[in-house]
Amino acid sequence: MNTGQAQPHQGVIARYRAVMDLPQHAIPVTLLEGNTPLIPVPQLAQAIGAQCDLFVKFEGMNPTGSFKDRGMTAAISEALGRGAGAVVCASTGNTAASAAAYAARAGMRCLVIIPSGKVAAGKLAGAVAHGAQVIQIDGSFDDALDLVVRISQRHPIALVNSLNPYRLEGQKTAAFEIIDELGSAPDWLCLPVGNAGNITSYWLGFTQANARDGSGLPRILGVQASGSAPLVLGHPVENPETVATAIRIGKPARAEEALQAAEQSQGRIIAVSDDDILAMQKLLARSGIWVEPASATGLAGLAHELKHRRVDIRGQRVVAVCTGHGLKDPDIITRSFPTPTSIPASMDAIEALLRADSF
Ligand code: F0G
Repeated sequence: MNTGQAQPHQGVIARYRAVMDLPQHAIPVTLLEGNTPLIPVPQLAQAIGAQCDLFVKFEGMNPTGSFKDRGMTAAISEALGRGAGAVVCASTGNTAASAAAYAARAGMRCLVIIPSGKVAAGKLAGAVAHGAQVIQIDGSFDDALDLVVRISQRHPIALVNSLNPYRLEGQKTAAFEIIDELGSAPDWLCLPVGNAGNITSYWLGFTQANARDGSGLPRILGVQASGSAPLVLGHPVENPETVATAIRIGKPARAEEALQAAEQSQGRIIAVSDDDILAMQKLLARSGIWVEPASATGLAGLAHELKHRRVDIRGQRVVAVCTGHGLKDPDIITRSFPTPTSIPASMDAIEALLRADSF
């Protein structure tokens, strides 16, 4: 009898280990990350004038609310297997929450270094909840990354930023999932770019799958925020600024690989304004998908390119990666919306309001 039961998902290592370059000594530490929804968004496509099959890969549905969990399961599994007792990362927030959760799962200590005052509340709370030691520095993410690299060189503490190659091995599984679901690679992939680990990982995944089974290659549209766009400007940005704090990064660790991914895929890296990012966050939310500002950046870039007639995607399949959940950064919404109307708890009062308002 077919009970309609699907194979239970066991996390990205269980599903893809055969095609991940993960050493034998790795001991899988998983929170059943991955297997995130690929959501068709036809109305949104129409709203931005994209006559294509548009999908959102909603990575905010991972266990800690961002795509980082895919890479973190791999990095923590490797670190645990070689006997590391502690991990460290620099973060704009999501990496911190993810590292803290997977370290807790593995029984390891976790140290995170973040730029003071520039991390969304939900991310910081996550890192603290999972028991990480959080240190704020009076500096940027780039300063924090410099520091954690030096810490990992001088102390027996494993670095779990995306300079760690196992992070990429885990993150590339998102490309495999997209291919598994669509049957082949999409024509375009749009995604936000910060420290450039994710764009590097997707390209690694797509090229590896294509070499193995001819699943094809997408063109990659990497999108930065215009106040933090070192890859577009061609030089580091000393004081990066953007409302999309997750990608407020002036010196991406994987800059070279990101530029190569864009070039080899015949895609490009562009920048969009904070206003464009927030407008896209709103459009996504009104389609039922609430993401944090950085996560709307890839789609904002696609809308920008369509508006300026710089892409022709008619009849094509396009996947936009939405990297993190909106719940991580509620302040960005709540500080701009009006306080809900307060009334007595009575039907009369409610109906009076419904008559007065154009509900
Ligand atoms: N989107 C979100 C929600 C992120 O948190 C990040 C990076 C990116 C996109 C960019 O990905 O760095 O691989 O190019 N967040 C890191 C962090 C820097 O510390 O959480 P990338």
